[in-house]
Amino acid sequence: METSLPPEVAENRKTEYPIHPLILGRWSPRSMTGEPISEQDLMTLLEAAHWAPSSYNAQPWRFIYAFRETPEWDPLFSTLVPFNQEWAAKAGALVLVLSHKIFEHNQKPSITHSFDAGAAWAYLALQGHVNGLVIHGMQGFDYEKAQELCKVPEDYQVECMVAVGKRGKKEDLPASIQEKETPSTRKPLSEVVMKGSFKQN
Ligand SMILES: Cc1cc2nc3c(=O)[nH]c(=O)nc-3n(C[C@H](O)[C@H](O)[C@H](O)COP(=O)(O)O)c2cc1C
Repeated sequence: METSLPPEVAENRKTEYPIHPLILGRWSPRSMTGEPISEQDLMTLLEAAHWAPSSYNAQPWRFIYAFRETPEWDPLFSTLVPFNQEWAAKAGALVLVLSHKIFEHNQKPSITHSFDAGAAWAYLALQGHVNGLVIHGMQGFDYEKAQELCKVPEDYQVECMVAVGKRGKKEDLPASIQEKETPSTRKPLSEVVMKGSFKQN
């Protein structure tokens, strides 16, 4: 378990209150080596995601995965926008995150299916960080095409694509992407936290 921050994170990220380095240390690099990801490595991430909390413990998340250089890869990869294809080509795996819009226990619509799937994605990302992997979420892909190509039924919502890979050198990224290869910062906490009722900034 990580107890200290990597230098690139310590230099770029400051918190107003102390938080665990596991949370502050997670970020979304794009540089990957192109090395394969093992089934064991990927299933560990999906197991972590599956332990997220959800409303009624409905576990509405679903994951469709593909390893690079396997027949399942091309359909998922083909949905990515060109910018994401540029760097995600070196991922070892892609994971499409879905959520079930209907509660299975009563067949009524779930209000929290996306919220719950978001929690699962966050667990996946944290476990990947602990395991030293690059985990990078993407909304830059064709949602309708992914739904069609992956045969996702209508009562499931396509939520996000995730690239999983081994960390590579920043220098090996295209120049325009290298500029972005730094842990991001956050807005002041006061901009997103409100006491009692909503306040416009
Ligand atoms: C749902 C979601 C969609 C995202 N979509 C993209 C994307 O299409 N392409 C990309 O390069 N990064 C994408 N990102 C990465 C975000 O830009 C990144 O998480 C954000 O800047 C915060 O940085 P951090 O993850 O390093 O803390 C996405 C992240 C999330 C959670």
